[in-house]
Amino acid sequence: MQDETIPTIRFPDGTEAPALGQGTWNMGENAAEAKREVESLRAGLDLGTTLIDTAEMYAEGGAEQIVGEAIRGRRDVFLVSKVYPWNASRKGTVEACENSLLRMGTDRIDLYLLHWRGNHPLAETVEAFEALKAAGKIGAWGVSNFDTDDMEELLAVPSGANVAANQVLYNLARRGIEFDLLPWCQQRNIPVMAYSPIEQGRILHNPELIRIAKANQATPAQVALAFLLERDGVIVIPKTANAARAAENRDAVSLDITDEDWAALDAAFPPPTRKKPLEML
Ligand SMILES: NC(=O)c1ccc[n+]([C@@H]2O[C@H](COP(=O)([O-])OP(=O)(O)OC[C@H]3O[C@@H](n4cnc5c(N)ncnc54)[C@H](OP(=O)(O)O)[C@@H]3O)[C@@H](O)[C@H]2O)c1
Repeated sequence: MQDETIPTIRFPDGTEAPALGQGTWNMGENAAEAKREVESLRAGLDLGTTLIDTAEMYAEGGAEQIVGEAIRGRRDVFLVSKVYPWNASRKGTVEACENSLLRMGTDRIDLYLLHWRGNHPLAETVEAFEALKAAGKIGAWGVSNFDTDDMEELLAVPSGANVAANQVLYNLARRGIEFDLLPWCQQRNIPVMAYSPIEQGRILHNPELIRIAKANQATPAQVALAFLLERDGVIVIPKTANAARAAENRDAVSLDITDEDWAALDAAFPPPTRKKPLEML
């Protein structure tokens, strides 16, 4: 085990956040699971994975309520939430944000994202985001599921260049963004948030990943997370409702994978050789 510290990412406005955070999709769906979900998020917070990613979509506000419970009385949290595309009008964005704040029992979302592109003009959504920022209700705003051409379009609208992050599907089995979107964002210092970083558990059975994990006295999930944490400007947000796994995921930052293992990962999960449209889950 090497360095224990969680690396940080610097947003365009200079704010820093941990490069390893916690997702919340599927939380808040089932009251019987609520206690476990809150405990797992709190365990992660205690271990320094203080960036929490949620959305008004998750359990239709239920996940934000779980987050609210987990962060109650705590200040050491970097909160990310998202607006539904069909709410992302000039007025609807502000209302959606206020509802999210109420559900989480907080007065500020650190990073507020457009969940995916919808029918409201980007200029309108950006205007609403900028108004929320001026009112202190959000710290910064960004987007999710935007491919390179969407990002180009965004930069062309007034204040569009204030985009602070793009959250996209990125893991060993989904490396398409390495061809152009990831370098495009890195060149502009726009952090990329890698969602479904362990492919919702599906890649953990890959024999090569299991072999590399064993060789490093690590778990397949840790290798999958370390693969992403190695990249510049990438924030990784695994979801777990299990406190032991929250600790396991957190320890991925201590993994030191050899060059030989990186080559084996490239062979098992080849990087893209041409542009592929951005995938979504
Ligand atoms: N912007 C978007 O459109 C978008 C889309 C998808 C996801 N997201 C965000 O990204 C977050 C992460 O993505 P995700 O939830 O889709 O998938 P994920 O983090 O790749 O995988 C989550 C699944 O893996 C399991 N798991 C977690 N840690 C594990 C470990 N160490 N060992 C074995 N299994 C483990 C979890 O089960 P347990 O809970 O039982 O541990 C859960 O079933 C979401 O929660 C959400 O916040 C955003």
